[in-house]
Order: sequence, then C-alpha cells, then structure tokens
Amino acid sequence: MADTWVRMVTAQTPTNIAVIKYWGKRDETLILPVNDSISVTLDPNDLCTTTTVAVSPTFDQDRMWLNGKEISLSGGRFQSCLKEIRARACEVEDEEKAIKIAKKDWEKLHLHIASYNNFPTAAGLASSAAGFACLVFSLAKLMNAKEDNSELSAIARQGSGSACRSLFGGFVKWTMGKVDNGSDSLAIQVADEKHWDDLVIIIAVVSSRMKETSSTTGMRDTVETSLLLQHRAKEVVPKRIVEMEEAIKNRDFASFARLTCSDSNQFHAVCLDTQPPIFYMNDTSHKIINCVEKWNRSEETPQVAYTFDAGPNAVLIAHNRKAAAQLMQKLLYYFPPNSDTDINSYVAGDKTILKDAG
Ligand code: DP6
Repeated sequence: MADTWVRMVTAQTPTNIAVIKYWGKRDETLILPVNDSISVTLDPNDLCTTTTVAVSPTFDQDRMWLNGKEISLSGGRFQSCLKEIRARACEVEDEEKAIKIAKKDWEKLHLHIASYNNFPTAAGLASSAAGFACLVFSLAKLMNAKEDNSELSAIARQGSGSACRSLFGGFVKWTMGKVDNGSDSLAIQVADEKHWDDLVIIIAVVSSRMKETSSTTGMRDTVETSLLLQHRAKEVVPKRIVEMEEAIKNRDFASFARLTCSDSNQFHAVCLDTQPPIFYMNDTSHKIINCVEKWNRSEETPQVAYTFDAGPNAVLIAHNRKAAAQLMQKLLYYFPPNSDTDINSYVAGDKTILKDAG
C-alpha cells in the first residue's frame, strides 16, 4: 500500500430544537442530564453542520477547522468523542484506492476534520448539537464502526448533551438513563420525519451574537443554586414527557403547543431562579411571546407554539402551512426585518410560505 493515500467521508447533520428542555447535569464529565428531553430535528436543508473527516498516514497530528478557522482539539469533550469512536473502529478495505486499514492502525493514524455551520455559531441556535452529532457520525463512517445511531448518540452526548438528539430525524427523546457509566443515556426516535410533516418551523433570529452565558456554565449554576430546578426535574418533566409523547403520536397540536410553550417558559423561569440570574430572552423575545399568545387565544385552537433556547431567538412551530403563512405576515408587520424591533432575519423551512396565507 502506498503511504500517501487519504480516505475521506462527508456527512451533514441538522440541528434539533427541544420542546421539552434539557437543563442541568447530574454528571458533568459524562454529560448525564437530570431529566429526559424531547426535540424535533430540523430539515437538513435549514440549519445544519457539514463535516468532512479525513485520515492519512501523512497526517502527523489530529487537527480541526470550524468555519475555515483552526480550533483546538485539546478539550475534554472532543477527546472523549475521539477516544470512544477510535475504540470502536474496525478494519477498512478499499480495493479501488488500494487502501487497507487494520483495526489496530486506527490507534496511530491521525485525523483532519473540517466542519461548517450554515448558521451563527453559539447564538442559541444549537450549533454544538449539530456539530458533535455530525462529528461522531462521520467518524463512525470513516472508521467503519458498527454501532447503530442510538449507540452513537451516547458518544455524541459526551461532546454536547443536546447533540445526542441530532442523530435522528423527526421527534427524538433523550432518555436520561440510570447507570453510572451513562451507557443507557441515549436518544431514541419517537416518530420519524414523515409522521407529522404538516408542521412548519420558523426561526426568528433576534440576535446572532454569541450568548453571554454558555449553556454549560448556565446549567452548572442552575444545578448549584435553583430549588425550582429540583421541582422541575422530579415532578414536572416526567409527566410532561409522557404527555408530549402522546401528543406527538396523536398529532394533537393543541396539547403539543401547550406543553412546548409551558416548558420553554419554565426553563426560562429556572434560569431566573439561578444565582446569579440568567436572562436569555430580551424585550423582542417577550413581544413575540405576547403576539403568539394573543393570537392563539383569539382562535378556537392554538395555531403556533413558541420555544426559546439559551438565547433570544424564537423558534416558532406552526400547525400547518396556512398558520405559518399567517404567522409570517404578523411577524413581518410587527417586526419588519432590520428595523429597530430587532428581528434580523427569518429562517423558514420554505421561503414560498407567504403565498399560503389565504
Ligand atoms: C437550552 O447541549 O448546549 O438548548 O451539554 O453543556 O453542551 P452541553 O449543553 P447544550 O444545552 C442545550 C440546552 C438547551 C435545551 C435543549 O436543547 O434541550
């Protein structure tokens, strides 16, 4: 075998948005959460990460580039993912390129990783979720690891908790697990992407700046200081998880919207209950909530659910295309893009949505 070969794999992974939130770890190193969570995975054409991983005997160290800029791989989270995947690497044989990599060779071979996000990094749009999921998935393919997506999700979890849910499309549950080594803290699909495909997700980008308090630091402070978190994790979320799975299975939008909005609001209440308090939403976020609440109350059944992660951007989930089109009309009227009202842009599943307003 000539020793100048390069083997490459490219993968694309969408981000996911939690409708029942993960907030708080019981083990910081293994990233084990204090409660189950449920998310919806976005369309791969919207917010996603594309990662190319390469291996070659000519590489003398592991290196990574994010959006074209080299970043350090020395952090514990990257190292955990690389170690776990290398431990599962299998023999690779590519006759066409005359490449044969034995299982034991993977310990010595170095990797080059190039990753791109098509959305602002660390602006509360879950860039680490898509990033680590894509990293683990592409490395597993490169190294011919035989694990299924749930098993891979337990590795991606060690990069960033929410990443484990991006290994699947549709609706996904991250079960917190019971065992100390975290092997049962993994993602499973609740329903695939076709099950409820009339929902339309629109993200109102209120700010694409980096958030001031990272999720990791924020949730650490919350675990240490918030009594409300204990009540949420033990009493509230377990019931909501059962109800949310039921709502998804039955495509019951009224229950889905009620649970999604309540859970987002409780997550932000828990942030306020933290010492020092964490404010992720801003005035524009609050105005969007008021606008949706008012509209939902004026209709027979709710038309839109809202949820906010660790940032001011609104994720709006409309019942169907008509509701999405009417929502866009309202948002463009009350918050014209690039105006003083601070919505920079809209990321919509389908740019032709306005013609369905009726
Ligand atoms: C508010 O997964 O980014 O988006 O595990 O420390 O990397 P780490 O945190 P991260 O937290 C996400 C928090 C959230 C809610 C959610 O996605 O469930």
